[in-house]
Amino acid sequence: MEAQIQTLATQALAEIAACADESQLEALRVRLLGKGGELTALSDRMRELSKEDKPRIGKVLNETRASVNAAMEARNAALTAAQETRAFEGVDVSLPSIGFSQGALHPITQLMDRAVQIFRRMGFALADGPDIETEWHCFDALNTPADHPARNEADTFYMPDGRLLRTHTSSIQIRTLEHMAPPVRIIAPGAAYRRDEVDATHLAQFTQMEGLYVDEDVTLGDLRGTLEFFFRELFGEDAEFRFRPHFFPFTEPSFEVDIKAAALGGGRWLEIAGCGMVDPAVFEAVNLRRGDSALDPERYTGFAFGFGLDRLAMIMSQVPDIRLFTDGDQRFLSQF
Ligand code: DAH
Repeated sequence: MEAQIQTLATQALAEIAACADESQLEALRVRLLGKGGELTALSDRMRELSKEDKPRIGKVLNETRASVNAAMEARNAALTAAQETRAFEGVDVSLPSIGFSQGALHPITQLMDRAVQIFRRMGFALADGPDIETEWHCFDALNTPADHPARNEADTFYMPDGRLLRTHTSSIQIRTLEHMAPPVRIIAPGAAYRRDEVDATHLAQFTQMEGLYVDEDVTLGDLRGTLEFFFRELFGEDAEFRFRPHFFPFTEPSFEVDIKAAALGGGRWLEIAGCGMVDPAVFEAVNLRRGDSALDPERYTGFAFGFGLDRLAMIMSQVPDIRLFTDGDQRFLSQF
């Protein structure tokens, strides 16, 4: 029996070494060590042995089983390693990677983010409103009479149901005041829409940023200080300002802000923003809608302002054609 075990062991080790893959190895393991396996069968025959032979043969059997197991484990490890080597065959890990292109924020979004950051530092919160607006939010509540040219069919996109694509973000002033009471200090960046002929300086959809501050004792000085601080943060300390009297239906008095700064090409005055002190008629219109007098014009004053981001981004980055912002051309966008 000892000889039988030796023969089996020699044969088993040779077969293990010859196994070409894991499944062959597993089949062999079952054949040798499984329930009806060859080595198992030999172990079963231990009972037939005499008392003297048992310990000796038992020892040989145990050793054989151990060496067969060890050989199988070693073969298995060698097969796995060989498989991994084959998987990397022909791969030159020293080559440069294929590379991937990383996206970036759109230049208008970048400018918007910067603007929002500056106003946040002054305690302004972000506000929002729908792009599809009612005439009341976009015009009536903003003290804009029915015959105002901005309400013209030729200038504004009207929906069949009478709503419209907001022509300015000023409607967000109304949306905010409808459900907030002073103190109110918000900025609202967003899209605005006009039926303009699209050319190098006009888009039918553009981006504006609105601001509104309502509280007790808000003055024109606060408006001026806020806007000058904001634009200096954006364009640099050298920025110079001109507040030119103007007219907007929803502010009284109203101004246009002109700025001269090196970051804007220097030299010439650029018309950048509209602003003014909120017209009490706006407070009254919202009070009427709210059914209370939360915006008591005897108690509260406010300032508002609005400016376009597209044109600012054009000037700051010397972009010659506004349509580049919406064309989605990667050669343009990847420069930012
Ligand atoms: N809504 C105006 C426009 O689109 C800009 C503007 C002017 C906004 C004066 C304001 C403001 O809040 O007070 O031209």
